[in-house]
Amino acid sequence: MDSTQNPKFLTSYLFFAFLLASSNLLTFFISTSFDSSCTFNQQTNTPSTVLAKPTPKYEAIQESSDNTQTDENLPSEFLAFTSPQKLPRGFNKNFNSDEIMPPIGRPCTLFRDLLDRYMSYNVNGSCPDDELLAQKLLLKGCEPLPRRRCHPAAPQEYVEPYPFPESQWRTPSDFSVVWTAFTCKNYDCLVNRARNQRAFDDCKDCFDLNGRERRRWTAKNGAGLDFSIDEVLAVKKAGTIRIGLDIGGGVATFAVRMRERNVTILTTSMNLNGPFNSFIASRGVIPLYVSISQRLPFFDNTLDIVHSMHVLSNWIPETLLHFLLFDIYRVLRPGGLFWLDHFFCVGDQFEKVYAPLIESIGFNKVKWIVGRKFDRGPELNEMYLSALLMKPLKNSW
Ligand SMILES: *[C@@H]1O[C@H](CO)[C@@H](O)[C@H](O)[C@H]1NC(C)=O
Ligand SMILES: *[C@@H]1O[C@H](CO)[C@@H](O)[C@H](O)[C@H]1NC(C)=O
Repeated sequence: MDSTQNPKFLTSYLFFAFLLASSNLLTFFISTSFDSSCTFNQQTNTPSTVLAKPTPKYEAIQESSDNTQTDENLPSEFLAFTSPQKLPRGFNKNFNSDEIMPPIGRPCTLFRDLLDRYMSYNVNGSCPDDELLAQKLLLKGCEPLPRRRCHPAAPQEYVEPYPFPESQWRTPSDFSVVWTAFTCKNYDCLVNRARNQRAFDDCKDCFDLNGRERRRWTAKNGAGLDFSIDEVLAVKKAGTIRIGLDIGGGVATFAVRMRERNVTILTTSMNLNGPFNSFIASRGVIPLYVSISQRLPFFDNTLDIVHSMHVLSNWIPETLLHFLLFDIYRVLRPGGLFWLDHFFCVGDQFEKVYAPLIESIGFNKVKWIVGRKFDRGPELNEMYLSALLMKPLKNSW
């Protein structure tokens, strides 16, 4: 039973899920393109809207003609970034090519209006203060976003983080955040919004580090759906859970608690009406700005643990969820743990759809607790699953 849950928090899980589950993969920097020649071709201080097509050096050498419709009138900076670029040292065995094609999400060009606005800026100048636009584009599937050659919006007088470990539990300075995209314009507003604002927001009370956030996962023995971190870690030999990922991890309290136990956790998060990524970084743990749609940026069989609370739920299309669960399985090492924390669905969805789907991936069940959720009324027949799953140590392939 889960009667202690805050109903507002729960009703917002949809938004929560949607926002929190993302981060842009870092595109790995290919240093070879810079170390041999200093003549990188920067077009500066020219509005991209008036830039001619990229210089011939940048321009795509079209080998196939199927780009011709989509390339029409695309922003010049977009073409500059995405067009195949000649490797300065010629043919490279690793690429099996003499050129490289920087990646963007396939749907980027489907949203021309947003893309045109996003890629209109002065090269070498200041980027527009357009985080809302960027996130909207990303959530529509333009992920990873194209890179831009401009300086991102930043506070006029940036205030550096508190020293670690103080930074973990102290509200950072308002001057560490660009507030333009958010309803709240300071941390005081965010800390108090659970009390003062009626509007629904993701993770509405998460910024209050002295509230519920401080107690999460810390019980001596977790009860029912609420497992504790220590009971989960105790499933494995001490010290063998060292690195992992929290998908849609709010303000990254999970990562902070794990760090106290010498476990390094990266936290994916969107910035849905709150500066989640800035806040996570201020606390001294690592935010990953990638959505739940993107392939996880880790190699196969590498992570010791993947955790996700509230985000993986019935708002996610079934096929996407199927791919996502397989991706979690992929990145976990054999013997690694998948802590599916408060998966939400309604009534017979659980028996008919989600239990079979989750069970089909190939994890072993360590814990599997199903509970009704009553906060919005029993007639809604809402359900939670909290599960601790393990990738098989042998024959996981
Ligand atoms: C880019 O802008 C900076 C000022 O922000 C300037 O100092 C620099 O010369 C510019 N670079 C080029 C190549 O124009
Ligand atoms: C974390 O690591 C440090 C240094 O290796 C060690 O002193 C400390 O006891 C560890 N803490 C826990 C909770 O394992």
